[in-house]
Amino acid sequence: MIPVLSDSRWVVDCQTRKIVYFALRNNTHFKLMSQNSESWGSRVGLILAMAGNAVGLGNFLRFPVQAIQNGGGAFIIPYLVCFLLMGIPLLWIEWATGRFGGSKGHHSTPFILDAMDKRKFWKYIGVFGIFTNLAVAAYYCYLESWTLNYVWNAITGTFRGETAESVSNYFNAYVNAGDAHQHWSAWIADNPAPIIFWVVCLVLNTWILSKGLSGGVEKVAKIGMPLLIVFGVFLAIMSISLKSGQHGAVYGGSEGLNFLWTPDFSTIWNPKVWLAAAGQIFFTLSVGMGSIQCYASYVRKKDDIALNAMSAGWMNEFVEVVLGAAIIIPISVGYLGVDKVVEMTRTGGLGLGFRTLPFLFEQWGTTLAVICGVFWFGLLFFAGITSSLAMGTPWMGFMQDEFGWSRSKGAWSFGAIVLILGLPTVLFFNQGVFDEYDYWAGTVSLVVFALGETILFAWIFGMDKGWREINAGGDIQVPNVFKFIIKYVTPTLLLLVFLGALITPEGNDWVGAFQNGWKLDNGSIIKQLLNTGIKDQMQMSREAGDLVTYDALKTKLLYVNGARLLLLAVFFGVAWLVSKAYFKRVKSGKII
Ligand code: ALA
Repeated sequence: MIPVLSDSRWVVDCQTRKIVYFALRNNTHFKLMSQNSESWGSRVGLILAMAGNAVGLGNFLRFPVQAIQNGGGAFIIPYLVCFLLMGIPLLWIEWATGRFGGSKGHHSTPFILDAMDKRKFWKYIGVFGIFTNLAVAAYYCYLESWTLNYVWNAITGTFRGETAESVSNYFNAYVNAGDAHQHWSAWIADNPAPIIFWVVCLVLNTWILSKGLSGGVEKVAKIGMPLLIVFGVFLAIMSISLKSGQHGAVYGGSEGLNFLWTPDFSTIWNPKVWLAAAGQIFFTLSVGMGSIQCYASYVRKKDDIALNAMSAGWMNEFVEVVLGAAIIIPISVGYLGVDKVVEMTRTGGLGLGFRTLPFLFEQWGTTLAVICGVFWFGLLFFAGITSSLAMGTPWMGFMQDEFGWSRSKGAWSFGAIVLILGLPTVLFFNQGVFDEYDYWAGTVSLVVFALGETILFAWIFGMDKGWREINAGGDIQVPNVFKFIIKYVTPTLLLLVFLGALITPEGNDWVGAFQNGWKLDNGSIIKQLLNTGIKDQMQMSREAGDLVTYDALKTKLLYVNGARLLLLAVFFGVAWLVSKAYFKRVKSGKII
């Protein structure tokens, strides 16, 4: 790394301690010139890459399931309110924070937050912005690899003539959920495809990342996003125009749309629905992760962010609310009815997309089954890869900035970390490792980090300065009401969401909890931490004399705790690197 003084008088041999000392004495600002010379190729490329970061598997698999689980029309109102009061403000905060950090030569949240406030604490809050991406990528890339496998299956006609049950069983075998007692080595020997497709997916991600932002990420977004929209529109038209009686459908496609879009105000005061809506907004927009800040750190100081952030955010909402809602729900409700679909999503949501849709496409005839299978899983693959690429960039930016790594070394090391961290999610999916990563890294961490960064931005960096950052170079003037929302409403809501999740009362009965005493639900963060749900089930199976289930749960507990240890190791590993980078800067006089 070559330190360069921003004041041109001092662009001389600044390796010498004398000049660094002089610079320090005179409070001269200088920034690091690292290996990091990335930039975006075009505005369209930036918006598509940012939209691609947001548009992901969450839009097509998670959103419909959340909507179904939370009462269809009852979910949409809290969802849209959370988008306006938390999603949009966080998009502006993260774009502004990122561009600000980038102007100081930082491309990952530890030192971006450090540039906003010098208290050491913030650097370590910034660790979340690297940790979350590594941990989410670890299970997300596995999920992404399923879509690649299913594209292959659609092309080769794997499901032609199969029964609904055998299509569903294929998925169970694929994720090793079919036989809970099969050893992982026997599962791989029987079933090498999951590992092969997963490794191919990882190599592809890593290779694209090694090509850089404009040479890799942006190109994929420019191809992937338009294709995703074309595929999505085609499938949405097919699904909405499904008529009852056609191809064996029992109900029409409109049945599912009515379920989702008929507003139901009865559950609007249920905090569970609000928590689910807020969680979906975080996941779908990729806020609270650190990847938006990283992408935005490569935006030039004078370039717009106010309008760009809105373009990417609204594009995500179009894909989620219009396309995400118009495919999986109308088709599955059309064949199975609302009750059956609600029942199927009760124990997890992935079933509909992988277990059910390939069979339903087959009912449309061979040609349409191939086209729709390729479009559906191809769309999921593009949605997934444009998000997982974004998860690689904060780690790469950090290592390039702080340790002078090359882009290629950054990319391949990211691939190696995801391989090691992701392997337990592949081998022990059935033991709850995947869900554990998703809960702590993909859900809780997002809220904690979003809360921290909002407080820093609005209250410590300062709302006036923050507001100027958001609007600087803007092609639109952000409405003034958002100054108030960002300062008061967003942090209050974030705090409520966090507290609500931390101490969720039993059965989500908030009124009862206030009246009759607070008993925590097993889904609350505190009870999750204590593994109360698994322990209760263990006790029940022991009391019932079901020792097979008891042993299976005991093994699960072991894997769940192992997964947590791995996540903690990653978090503290990144924190250690941050502290090493900090002292390296201090020692070389690069921090003033
Ligand atoms: N925002 C990404 C998704 O929705 C992570 O899948």
